[in-house]
Amino acid sequence: MKKILVTGGCGYIGSHTIVDLVQNGYEVISVDNNSRSSINILNGVEKIIGKKVKNYTVDLCNFDDTFAIFQENEDITGIIHFAAYKAVGESVENPLMYFDNNLNSLINILRCAEEFHVPHVVFSSSCTVYGNPDEIPVTENTAFKPAESPYGSTKQMGEDIVKQTINSYPDMNAILLRYFNPVGAHPSGFIGEIPLGRPANLVPGITQTAIGKLPQMQVYGTDYPTKDGSCLRDYIHVSDIAHAHTLALDYLIEGRNETSCDVFNLGTGNGYTVLEVIRMFEKVSGQALNYVLADRRPGDVIAIYANNDKAKTLLHWDPQYDLEAMMQTAWDWEKKQNSITN
Ligand code: WQD
Repeated sequence: MKKILVTGGCGYIGSHTIVDLVQNGYEVISVDNNSRSSINILNGVEKIIGKKVKNYTVDLCNFDDTFAIFQENEDITGIIHFAAYKAVGESVENPLMYFDNNLNSLINILRCAEEFHVPHVVFSSSCTVYGNPDEIPVTENTAFKPAESPYGSTKQMGEDIVKQTINSYPDMNAILLRYFNPVGAHPSGFIGEIPLGRPANLVPGITQTAIGKLPQMQVYGTDYPTKDGSCLRDYIHVSDIAHAHTLALDYLIEGRNETSCDVFNLGTGNGYTVLEVIRMFEKVSGQALNYVLADRRPGDVIAIYANNDKAKTLLHWDPQYDLEAMMQTAWDWEKKQNSITN
């Protein structure tokens, strides 16, 4: 069985990806210092896959501790690198914390991959690298605009670090996966998103408002040049994102990669506005959402959605969940966390 190291394995996308990898025949170990996640999420993973997953509680910015993981696991075939800080607003307030954490952890992982001859690397990137695109949908060849935040800069720089490193080590290949907006939860209800503190993202903000954890939600801006004035995004179910990682590893291991470092957009190819997402949630939950129309949020991109043809063609990826299912699973997870059954 091929062993995969998942960094950030206790996180939202990391935990869902571990489920998909194991269900598709891979052996998985996780490393996560739980600074932004809970080890308890692996209990939910275990309920789904029926086996325990070992997590190394290690800070990847500590090279010696990271190196020790590879000494103990000299049979790692691939690495999926999720571990990073990802809050756009926080990155503006504390840029050096983001550059230090997100880039040093990546560099340590790549140094160990090279030292231990790990041939395959999958890097967690984001549609944020495109900035505010001139044309949509964006393809993988769409030129980067300046990043809207230090978080976005760490993704742009991270991609370049991976690309340049892989180019220097012919025994390695890599894939950069650019997620659009990951939302929803595993249909089992055993794992999902666990925001720390008040959620910055739209969908957990909606579900926490609907369940009563938040008093009211704000729609940030309704004067944008879109169909209803609110921002447009490409929401993609986290389980579809997870499966794309399994397919990306298959692609690298089978040597189907066209270049040493391929890039793929992971979006549905459909754009929805904030107000359309709220309408869908109200349909799914059967209740009106308590929200107000507010000013724009600094740094927000007006509209972006993916051209996902490349991932569909080369990775054989076919997203299964539509917006209704995304809202349904997100709502079911929120209710389960608050043990409300209705
Ligand atoms: C979506 C839309 C908000 C909250 C960022 C990162 C991306 C990824 C996801 C890590 C925007 C609006 C939001 C609210 C609102 N991060 N909104 N009221 O900013 O598109 O993407 O998070 O993987 O890389 O860039 O996601 O969910 O924060 O916002 O109106 O209470 O919802 O203004 O238009 P975003 P988001």
